[in-house]
Amino acid sequence: MTDVVSPSTPQSEISQSVIPVTQRPRRLRRTETLRRLVRENTLRVDYLIYPLFVMEGEGQREAIPSMPGYYRYTLDLLLQEVREAGALGIGAIALFPLIPSDQKDNAGTESYNPDGLIPRVVRALKQAVPDMLIITDVALDPYSSEGHDGIVQDGKILNDETVAVLVKQALVQAEAGTDFVAPSDMMDGRIGAIRKALDAVGWINVGILAYSAKYASAYYGPFRDALDSAPKFGDKKTYQMDAANAREAIKEVELDIAEGADIVMVKPALAYLDIICQIKQRTNLPVAAYNVSGEYAMIKAAAAQGWIDEKKIILETLTSMKRAGADLILTYFAKEVALMLR
Ligand code: PBG
Repeated sequence: MTDVVSPSTPQSEISQSVIPVTQRPRRLRRTETLRRLVRENTLRVDYLIYPLFVMEGEGQREAIPSMPGYYRYTLDLLLQEVREAGALGIGAIALFPLIPSDQKDNAGTESYNPDGLIPRVVRALKQAVPDMLIITDVALDPYSSEGHDGIVQDGKILNDETVAVLVKQALVQAEAGTDFVAPSDMMDGRIGAIRKALDAVGWINVGILAYSAKYASAYYGPFRDALDSAPKFGDKKTYQMDAANAREAIKEVELDIAEGADIVMVKPALAYLDIICQIKQRTNLPVAAYNVSGEYAMIKAAAAQGWIDEKKIILETLTSMKRAGADLILTYFAKEVALMLR
C-alpha cells in the first residue's frame, strides 16, 4: 500500500483554502483500492465469445495475414485450441468455416449438407468438450460462389428464397448439436422463419443470437480474407445497414425480438458504441457486441509498429464496449484477455 495518504494530512497549506469546492471528484481516485471500490464496469472472461475459423484437413494451421496471430484450424488442431480456451475460462465459441471453392455455388447448397464441415465439427466438439457453448453462423457467404449472404439473381440478392436456405442451414446445425444459431445475413424475416422451423421439429432449446444491427462496414475486410468470402461483385449495402443510421438499428432490433431472438447483437462494435448504448436502453434482452476483424487488425498493426501499448489498448477497447452496454462481447482477443485477467 504505497499510495495511501492519511486523509487527515493536508497536502499543502494552499489546497485547504484557495478553491472553495464542495465536490472534489479526485478524492475517489486517490488510491487503486478506492478506484476499484467505485469502478462501474469490470472485464470478465465469463461473457467473452471466442470466434474461430475452421477448415478441412488434418494437422494444419494457416496464418491469416491481415489478422496477425490468428489462424484457420483443421478440426484436430481446433479441438486443441478450444480445450486451451476452455482451460482459460472461456465458455463460448463462434464457428466460421472456410469452404473449398469447388463446393461453393450461388444457392449455398453446401450450407445445409448434414455431413458438411460445420456439422462435423459441431458433433466432434460436442463429444470432446461438451461444456463449451457452441454458436454457429447462419449465412450463405462462406458457401456462396458470389461471396454474398444471399442467392443472387440478375445482380440482386433474393430475400425470401435465401431465408428458405437459411432455415435448412439452421436445422442441420441444430441436428448436429449446436447451442445457438447466429444468423449474420440481414435478410428480412429470417429470425421468425428459423424460430418457427426449429420449434416445429422440437429444437425448442436451440437459441438464436441475432445479428440484428449489422452495418455494411469496411471493418469486415480481414474476416473476408480469412474465409475467402469477399463479394465477387458490388457490396452488401442492399441488406446490411447504412453506417449513418441509428433509429433503423432500433427498428431492426425490435423486429428480431418480435420474431423470437434470444440475444440481439450490434456489429461492428467500436465505431458503433452509440448504437450499443441506445439498444441497451430499449431492451431487456442480453445485448452482444462484435469486436470485428478490422478492429483487431488495427490494434495488431499499430502494436507491431510499437506505436501503442497493445495490452492496455485491448483492455481499454473492450471495457468501452462493456461501458456502452454490451452484455456479451465476441472478440478475437478473447484468449489474450483471458490470459491477462488471470
Ligand atoms: C458474414 C459475416 C461477416 C462477419 C461475420 N459474419 C462478414 C460480412 O458480413 O461480410 C464479419 C466478422 C468480422 O469482420 O470479424 N455473414
